[in-house]
Amino acid sequence: MENKKYFCSELNNVLTCMNQDIVSCCSGRVAPSYFNNYKGEIFSKSYLLEIKEKYFNLLNANDIESTPCKNCFYLHEMKPDDKISETFNLINISHWTQCNCGCIYCARIIESKGEITKRKEKSKYYDFLPLLKQLYKENLLDKENLTVCFQGGDISVLKEFEPTVKEFLKNGVKNFQILSNNITYQPIIKKLLDKNMLYYNTSLDCGTRETYYKIKRVDKFNDFVKNLKKYAHTEFINNIGVKYILLHNVNDNREEIDKFISLMSGIGIKNIEFMLDFKVLFCKDFTKHPIPANYKDIYLYFKNACLEHGMRFGVWPIAEEFIKTNVL
Ligand SMILES: C[S@@+](CC[C@H](N)C(=O)[O-])C[C@H]1O[C@@H](n2cnc3c(N)ncnc32)[C@H](O)[C@@H]1O
Ligand code: SF4
Ligand code: SF4
Repeated sequence: MENKKYFCSELNNVLTCMNQDIVSCCSGRVAPSYFNNYKGEIFSKSYLLEIKEKYFNLLNANDIESTPCKNCFYLHEMKPDDKISETFNLINISHWTQCNCGCIYCARIIESKGEITKRKEKSKYYDFLPLLKQLYKENLLDKENLTVCFQGGDISVLKEFEPTVKEFLKNGVKNFQILSNNITYQPIIKKLLDKNMLYYNTSLDCGTRETYYKIKRVDKFNDFVKNLKKYAHTEFINNIGVKYILLHNVNDNREEIDKFISLMSGIGIKNIEFMLDFKVLFCKDFTKHPIPANYKDIYLYFKNACLEHGMRFGVWPIAEEFIKTNVL
């Protein structure tokens, strides 16, 4: 990496509000950090921008070793039009861990301890709305072109969810991405979908009630299907994506895939996303991890089944590369 300048668009454009830390990108705890153990501190524009600049200076001084970015696949050689921005155009909201189901693969399981919550709650870490007001006051969010992405936990048990969406709408935001387990119907999701303001993504990961229970640890398969049918009644059906996270010896078989595909096709879903478990994809320092031998076959079977049913097949390029090159 000698004599080269590096750039990362995530570092430049993204602000990620995790439960404990406020960081740049979504790679979680390893990301360049603005606040550790955030507890609602007030901050100025220059405070955040100086930290961003500090990391860019390290990348450009060839000191990647001093950043958490070493070997990250987002890092690329600096291009002439790569300029450090004074605002963020993507904000990830992920400051709570509570959820109304308990997926066996959940990346948040350490923080949530796998607990299943039934009622709406405040985040156990900090409130997002005061932070949001501060970001607007300091002009840190792109006024014309901001994308808001809710992750979590699940939005359906977050008290602040609806007021937060309304605050963004008040500020002219037109572009939302929401990830949810789809167990509880949310009228505001339907409204955003019908206005073409939302990309909605949900992980079903199976095609039967039995497998659903094994994965999610709640018996809510039928609720999922009922809610998805209601959301799918929209002019903007292409803005709904349903994901299948492949889990070894749980859903990595053709029978389950057939049932999933025919269920989705019957509901009229057009976008299917195929995903590997993060635990397979991300190891400590982004090094590769061998993946089970049947994945290549399952991946091709899944892809063909989607295409045969006229559904768009989406896959993270990095997951696809792993399957092709890293099979045991
Ligand atoms: C932590 S979840 C929160 C949002 C919402 N509760 C949900 O599950 O869609 C954020 C996203 O990460 C995905 N995810 C969580 N754990 C994962 C894992 N081990 N491997 C792959 N994707 C995972 C979920 O499917 C979801 O799209
Ligand atoms: S290079 Fe990777 S770890 Fe560093 S800021 Fe970019 S996305 Fe995050
Ligand atoms: S629905 Fe989302 S937050 Fe809830 S357990 Fe599953 S992956 Fe985790």
